[in-house]
Amino acid sequence: MPSLKQISLLLVGLWSSTAVAEGPVYQDAFIVESDPSTTIQSRSDLLSDVTSALSGLGASCKATLRNQFDSPHFTGASFNLQCDSSVQQQAALEAIRNLGVVGKAWPVRQVKAQRNIPSGHDGRGAAHLELPRVNNAPLGRLRDGFASSSPGSSDLLAARDESPAPDTLSTHVETGIDRLHAEGITGKGIRIAVVDSSFDTSVPGLSGTMVGYTKDIITGGSVTGDDCSYHGTHVLGIVGANQKGTGAANDSSSAQPAMTHGVNGAAYDATYELYRIQPCGADAAQTDDLIAAFLQAGQRGVDEPWAVVATRLARNGTFVSLSNGNSPSGTGPFTGGGAGMALDVMAVGATYNTITPCLQWQGVLTLGGMSSPLSFTPGSRVGFPATSLTVWSPTKSVKSADGSCNQVADDMAPPADPANTILLLERSQCWVDQDGVSLTASPPPCPWFTDADAESTQGIISIAHATGLSMIAALNNGDSVTVILPADAVSGRVAVTSIDNTEAGGQLTYYSSWGPSLDGRSRPTLIAPGHNILSTFPRYLGNWGVIGGTSMSTPLVAGAAALAKQAHPAWDGAQIQAAMALTARPIKFNTRQRSDYYGVTRDFLAPVIAQGAGFLDAWAAVHTATLTNTTSLNFNDTTHRPSHLDFSLTNAGSETLSYTLRHTGAASGYVMNTTGGALYDLTTGDAQPVYAELAISPASLTLEPGKSATVSVSIAAEPAMPEAAKRISYFGGYITIDVVSSSSNNNNNTNSTLSLPYTGFGGDLTSLPMINRDQTYSAGYDAAKQSSTDRLPAGRVFECRYQTSASPPCTFPADGLAPGLVLSLVTQTRNLTIDLQDSAAPGGGVYTSGSNNPWDGSGYHAWDGSDRNRTFVPAGEYVWRVTALRLNADSGMVERDWDVWESESWGLRYAADSTGLPGGKV
Ligand SMILES: *[C@@H]1O[C@H](CO)[C@@H](O)[C@H](O)[C@H]1NC(C)=O
Ligand SMILES: *[C@@H]1O[C@H](CO)[C@@H](O)[C@H](O)[C@H]1NC(C)=O
Ligand SMILES: *[C@@H]1O[C@H](CO)[C@@H](O)[C@H](O)[C@H]1NC(C)=O
Ligand SMILES: *[C@@H]1O[C@H](CO)[C@@H](O)[C@H](O)[C@H]1NC(C)=O
Ligand SMILES: *[C@@H]1O[C@H](CO)[C@@H](O)[C@H](O)[C@H]1NC(C)=O
Ligand SMILES: *[C@@H]1O[C@H](CO)[C@@H](O)[C@H](O)[C@H]1NC(C)=O
Ligand SMILES: *[C@@H]1O[C@H](CO)[C@@H](O)[C@H](O)[C@H]1NC(C)=O
Repeated sequence: MPSLKQISLLLVGLWSSTAVAEGPVYQDAFIVESDPSTTIQSRSDLLSDVTSALSGLGASCKATLRNQFDSPHFTGASFNLQCDSSVQQQAALEAIRNLGVVGKAWPVRQVKAQRNIPSGHDGRGAAHLELPRVNNAPLGRLRDGFASSSPGSSDLLAARDESPAPDTLSTHVETGIDRLHAEGITGKGIRIAVVDSSFDTSVPGLSGTMVGYTKDIITGGSVTGDDCSYHGTHVLGIVGANQKGTGAANDSSSAQPAMTHGVNGAAYDATYELYRIQPCGADAAQTDDLIAAFLQAGQRGVDEPWAVVATRLARNGTFVSLSNGNSPSGTGPFTGGGAGMALDVMAVGATYNTITPCLQWQGVLTLGGMSSPLSFTPGSRVGFPATSLTVWSPTKSVKSADGSCNQVADDMAPPADPANTILLLERSQCWVDQDGVSLTASPPPCPWFTDADAESTQGIISIAHATGLSMIAALNNGDSVTVILPADAVSGRVAVTSIDNTEAGGQLTYYSSWGPSLDGRSRPTLIAPGHNILSTFPRYLGNWGVIGGTSMSTPLVAGAAALAKQAHPAWDGAQIQAAMALTARPIKFNTRQRSDYYGVTRDFLAPVIAQGAGFLDAWAAVHTATLTNTTSLNFNDTTHRPSHLDFSLTNAGSETLSYTLRHTGAASGYVMNTTGGALYDLTTGDAQPVYAELAISPASLTLEPGKSATVSVSIAAEPAMPEAAKRISYFGGYITIDVVSSSSNNNNNTNSTLSLPYTGFGGDLTSLPMINRDQTYSAGYDAAKQSSTDRLPAGRVFECRYQTSASPPCTFPADGLAPGLVLSLVTQTRNLTIDLQDSAAPGGGVYTSGSNNPWDGSGYHAWDGSDRNRTFVPAGEYVWRVTALRLNADSGMVERDWDVWESESWGLRYAADSTGLPGGKV
């Protein structure tokens, strides 16, 4: 196994934290870190200590080891806990934390790989054909999941250029990676760890990729094959695709020969270590597995162990590249999340590719007896019998003129022969945004890969909207419509065509999450192409695929970092980040903030909390002779505003350089949206050409090679944002640095303009509400359906049938509803407590559900008969009390640090046939 120090880079696809719902039967998993001074001598002792600590809470539990961590960066273990009686997670956590050997403990959390973001999101963009797996009505809703088996497929029929090809991949041309490749900087000698779902390294696009080590973190084996996903294979191709050995003329050339579709990785000569962290059939990875992967490979923004480990590795010199997050339902301040918020890691946002690669297979369409070729894009399931399938549509009309979704008629008659029927769906049925806003953009240029896996679906494809319309028209005409779809890519005749994206190329995607982190640090670090990306796909999906997301920009940035490392072996992760941030190019604001595909580009720079340092320029990063010791300056809020922030400027080149420093403003905006008197809404991204004034000192200086100087920056005037105190404004911009060398030799790009981003907030972040009082209420929780009711009236009485031996102890025979609450938070909070409290004796909380996880919170919470210490909760009147730590309130010692909400009271009674009630009381 390689040691951590050998690994120069670490990247992970897009994983965003999601909370594990607390079920009624207690089953959980925890991560513990041992105190640095005490090592956990024996894991079996730890497990038995845990079991006895929980028996002290009256629970009989079994603990089994999941992962063992023996790294200097993290010593500890993770384990599963299964209890035959119910325990509150917080109580279990406290009991574990109180064990002598444990320094810190966290619950294991699920981290979902976010799905591919469709490359168009307008209703008219495409139609779908979906083949039901079984003979039931084929109206399966599109759901997440994975196919479990796959037909084989082999090489493409696409034309292949046999001569060494220059790098023409648009994402490389946009970022200067093509120029670095031309200079022979290709990642040679650099080791890159990729932590992702799974990897199919048997595909032609990865035939020349050097894989030095593979590990399946779930099974402990070395198999990383991908026959059930595609995320990891696509990510690996972006950074490491190498088609040498595919019949190329000149394998020794540093330019890659014979690149099918022009696909090559940003660091195609690096050596890869692959860590598979997601088994087939699962739709999420677990944080302890991510830690295990990060550790084997390799605070306080988020006190989350995975993020902590990422930060420690970054501080130890490893370049860690993580996604800043996808927010498909709308961006705006505080939409980023997960480990991308960790201190010192590179957090990456996504822009649109300047071209839209259109990857299509070909089948046969027969409309009323006339046959023609049918171009289509396969989805995440392919499993077609290659026989004639009857096209059937539940609706006879297309999207209505007013843009509303079509409803399937109640009296809809199912098809006669479902087993040989394929369902035609208009995409619009799925694409009306959360606010009910209908989408009216023109169609994207080609159908996109669909990540939809209804359990009843055997295969799914996308076709052009116009083709779908002609099918509907023929069906309405009484004509038969059939299709024959190839079972694999060979018979599918794959072709890729590219269409310029003149509308959105190079701009921020509508879903690329904004910062800042919960402690006000600027995020993302920078942005790079991530949407409409052609890369390798697993063999069963045809070897190539086009998908998009911040998952796709993250490996491109990691590849660029590998090139920087190759060119500058002495640079550590922080210096590589600084070089990339300084040389990134700030981009203009586009009004595309939601699902609106086409926005308007304004003549001012996008907020720094949306784009960070700007658009990646890998060539300039490698060729900069100037470095700073930070990637941004954060001026925090008005209450915590530093009088000045300093950074060091270093001439790392071989010539004397002169610097002139000036201020360039980027858009300001408000955090809170108060439209119509709203009190708890965040803006979905506001941007106004209003700027702060900076004082920069010195404003010019000259540095000899190897010399550094300190530059001091302060806010001379706040931006003119009149509602800043009430709505909290954000602002930012760049310290623009013009660099000039007297030499006329500019090989090192010495005459250049660099920029260092800064941010600030124009109010007190502690004044932001944390709890959305309009959308937080008492509700009933239905354990059978795992869902909550709407708001319940005050005074609602819940009658528990109590049985000591049962788990959970309460059932609610009247209507199955347990007392609960629906909680909506304005932003995430770093400390959340939910108390069940006697309404007659305020402060006498008898039930507490705490959370130490900053990403927990919004959702439903319920009481099932047990409290934290398994003391009996008597019949009576209760309220829910929620306490959330406010942003930037770091002491937590004073009342105004907390936002507190109390529900109206509700009643608890016990049924007459309850058993085991203390004192036999009812
Ligand atoms: C990185 O970690 C190793 C192992 O703990 C340690 O020896 C080394 O000094 C660390 N390097 C840095 C730059 O912190
Ligand atoms: C802003 O101030 C708060 C409160 O002191 C602190 O916790 C936080 O780390 C600061 N953030 C930044 C980016 O300096
Ligand atoms: C960078 O250097 C300056 C002065 O040289 C120092 O004040 C500042 O704290 C340093 N910043 C970081 C992030 O280390
Ligand atoms: C504020 O909310 C209104 C109403 O929902 C919406 O139309 C507007 O776009 C929002 N403004 C921002 C900047 O998010
Ligand atoms: C850089 O700028 C200086 C001053 O304008 C000039 O003398 C020098 O020739 C320039 N170098 C290059 C390579 O353009
Ligand atoms: C470019 O920079 C490198 C070090 O980063 C140095 O060795 C080389 O001499 C420089 N070239 C020129 C033309 O200044
Ligand atoms: C949350 O705040 C409470 C009250 O100050 C404190 O007792 C508890 O330790 C905090 N939890 C965490 C995880 O910091």
